[in-house]
Amino acid sequence: KSQPPVVFHFMPWIGSAAAYGQDPIKFFFDCRQKHGDVFTFILLGRRVTVALGPGGNNFIMGGKHTVFSAEDIYTHITTPIFGKDVVYDCPNEVLMEQKKFVKFGLSTDNFRAYVGMIEEEVLGYMKSDSRFRIFQMNDINEWGSFDALKTMSEVTILTASRTLQGIEVRNHITKDYAQVYSDLDGGFTPLHFMFTNLPLESYRKRDAAHKKISDFYISIIRQRRENPGQEEEHDMIASLMNQKYRNGRALKDHEIAHIMIALLMAGQHTSSSTGSWSLLHIADRPDVADALFEEQVKHFLQPDGTWRTMEYEEIKDLPILDSVIRETLRIHPPIHSIMRAVREDIVVPRTLSAPSEDGQYIIPKGHVVMSSGAVSQVDPILWKNATEWDPSRWSDPEGVAAQAYKQYDDANGAKVDFGFGLVSKGTDSPYQPFGAGRHRCIGEQFAYLQLGTVITTVIRQCELKLASGVPAPNYQTMITLPKKPRDILYRRRQF
Ligand code: HEM
Repeated sequence: KSQPPVVFHFMPWIGSAAAYGQDPIKFFFDCRQKHGDVFTFILLGRRVTVALGPGGNNFIMGGKHTVFSAEDIYTHITTPIFGKDVVYDCPNEVLMEQKKFVKFGLSTDNFRAYVGMIEEEVLGYMKSDSRFRIFQMNDINEWGSFDALKTMSEVTILTASRTLQGIEVRNHITKDYAQVYSDLDGGFTPLHFMFTNLPLESYRKRDAAHKKISDFYISIIRQRRENPGQEEEHDMIASLMNQKYRNGRALKDHEIAHIMIALLMAGQHTSSSTGSWSLLHIADRPDVADALFEEQVKHFLQPDGTWRTMEYEEIKDLPILDSVIRETLRIHPPIHSIMRAVREDIVVPRTLSAPSEDGQYIIPKGHVVMSSGAVSQVDPILWKNATEWDPSRWSDPEGVAAQAYKQYDDANGAKVDFGFGLVSKGTDSPYQPFGAGRHRCIGEQFAYLQLGTVITTVIRQCELKLASGVPAPNYQTMITLPKKPRDILYRRRQF
């Protein structure tokens, strides 16, 4: 068996880094045209084999964790940020236990408590700050503007810390803390992914910030232990303090601290990016903004003209809101490439998008493999008007994916669910903004709750519009963010 075709490149070590870094989605579609579903490209000395389409997603996300390792590839960037003994700095079985602990804290009971807290934070943010000062306007007809990403980043950290992270963290969010957080975040870049340690300022700042934040969490844990009443909190620290590994050992303080940092990082850019893109698209589509507002009016506007806080269960039953978030995640999944390091030689069918007699390639041990939900989510073979942001597709059973994919599904016996408004959560799904399989996201429900409450709180209070069109994506950050200008115009509603 031969190895997959290698994408043509001029420079030996650099390979296709520029084309991939500039626009990975275009790069992947171009390569598929030339080479088919499976190909290898050189990325700064690494050999990266890409497997596209739902078949590619299945191959990588459904692969055995002993062969497709997430920790081998991610630990270089994550361990200096999160810290020792958690997530990718421990055996995969330990990560699975840690994910279970976190799931325990992401309980429906806790979520019920969070809706009101998030709403309060958003309203407080709108009132207090000069960047988003809706309620300070004298002239009610005046339009103001805010930067979608800056605003959503601030709202995300405020709401996540008020809920998941805990009251001590929320009360600590001052200018100084924001700087420390930003230093830690400075370690989450493609450069830090390529090189774990370099004698550069950003690396020194990352390490100092990790120590400071980790010590801060450890001090919270110790204070809580000395003052047991606080364990009644609905947050993740409280939950983790009560968990035990299967062998009966409780989590050590530094493990709790490091899991908390991991959750902060996992949720911050993903949610603020999704929130920004959602608001930008809503602002661009007055018909969708009106439908969202009407949905709120129908369910939550009280006879006295005040708004009722949503119940957690009710959020799941708002089809317009749900379709806006789903559709935003389809076109703008924050994570465009999922990577694993290959620990043994493996074989892969040459053609993954349809049953075929084309034979197989061998992928040698040491390659990185990559899948891209971001490609299958906008693949014109699978989706009608694939790159158009159209939330209504989620309530149209014929609109979820095109006929071609159904044929593949029938012929292949794959279990992709084309049911009303839903695409399967399986590893072979064309829609996987939260990943799939063993490493699938556990923050999905929290993210929906947070985004749903933030978006509806904004929509209840104001009309939105865009000065210029929806911005292009910036793929040069680890998480796909909207480029500038990304200003949204807003005006307080009158009704
Ligand atoms: C894993 C996306 C929010 C915690 C993942 C993965 C994706 C993802 C694609 C799979 C990564 C891989 O297989 O390599 C998202 C998106 C979010 C979001 C789009 C928001 C819109 C959150 C939040 C949390 C979180 C809020 C925490 C509260 C995690 C964890 C994992 C994960 C713990 C597991 C990592 C593993 O098992 O290797 N997420 N995420 N995520 N996410 Fe999220």
